[in-house]
Amino acid sequence: MTVPATATPILELRGVVAGYGETTVLRGVSAEVAAGGVLAILGANGAGKSTLLRVASGVLRPSSGSVLVDGVDVTRRKPGSRVRLGLCHIPDPRGIFPSLTVRENLLLQAPRRGGAARVGPVLATFPRLEQRLGQAAGTLSGGEQQMLAVARAYVQRPRVVLLDEVSMGLAPNLVDEIFGFLRTLAEQGVALVIVEQFVHRALAMADRVLVLARGRVGLSAAAGVVGEAEIFGAYAGVAGTGVAGTGVAGSNGNGVARAEPARGGARGARGARGSRR
Ligand SMILES: Nc1ncnc2c1ncn2[C@@H]1O[C@H](COP(=O)(O)OP(=O)(O)OP(=O)(O)O)[C@@H](O)[C@H]1O
Ligand SMILES: [Mg+2]
Repeated sequence: MTVPATATPILELRGVVAGYGETTVLRGVSAEVAAGGVLAILGANGAGKSTLLRVASGVLRPSSGSVLVDGVDVTRRKPGSRVRLGLCHIPDPRGIFPSLTVRENLLLQAPRRGGAARVGPVLATFPRLEQRLGQAAGTLSGGEQQMLAVARAYVQRPRVVLLDEVSMGLAPNLVDEIFGFLRTLAEQGVALVIVEQFVHRALAMADRVLVLARGRVGLSAAAGVVGEAEIFGAYAGVAGTGVAGTGVAGSNGNGVARAEPARGGARGARGARGSRR
């Protein structure tokens, strides 16, 4: 069954081929996320997850395929221009400025209009950061740095946040705290693309999951209907699972992983199964 399109995607990747120098990493990957949607990108080490986020944010230009924001082709636009469209990338490592203070990090790329006003609320969510406003970000603990990275994203008033392994190395209660905050963001209509190592966390958070296997879409499905065994099965890719000759597995029938909004009928998307080819 194909999941019907209910909202225009904010962010869309179409047939992205990308890599580094002579090495091709992504081989025709399509994905999209609408306002309030949460798309989890899963896959083995080296599958191309971080590369996908880099292409989305403009850090890496694809050799073919395209990136669209609100239906407008931004493939050739620089990262800074995409930030102004509301795209915020929290890379791995976290993309904070270690020699600047927590306060400076929060305000560095805050939009002139309404950016500073968001510092108070986010500090209320992460009081640990408030106690460390004057401290150099590089001296924060790993968990505190991750909080700062997420808080910075919030202050930038993003429409789409791309998160690369935000839970990496964090204690479970901290991960809960950060994921709880991200869920609130999604409920406010922010689209999330999360690269996540913990499959159960990804499934709990996301509307859709996309498994990358050797740079292709190994599986794309609604998060509510796909199990961990099926996901791990897709990690190896089509050839690895012995299902030869089926081409690119997964996708919602047209090769596109789609994350639906979190509000209203959005959670209903969990009931709709993304078809596997
Ligand atoms: N700057 C780079 N130059 C050359 N090759 C790179 C570069 N960055 C990544 N690669 C290679 O591209 C492939 C995909 O890397 P990528 O970081 O996207 O994987 P990943 O799925 O995020 O893996 P992990 O789970 O380990 O973070 C890997 O083989 C990696 O070695
Ligand atoms: Mg990575």
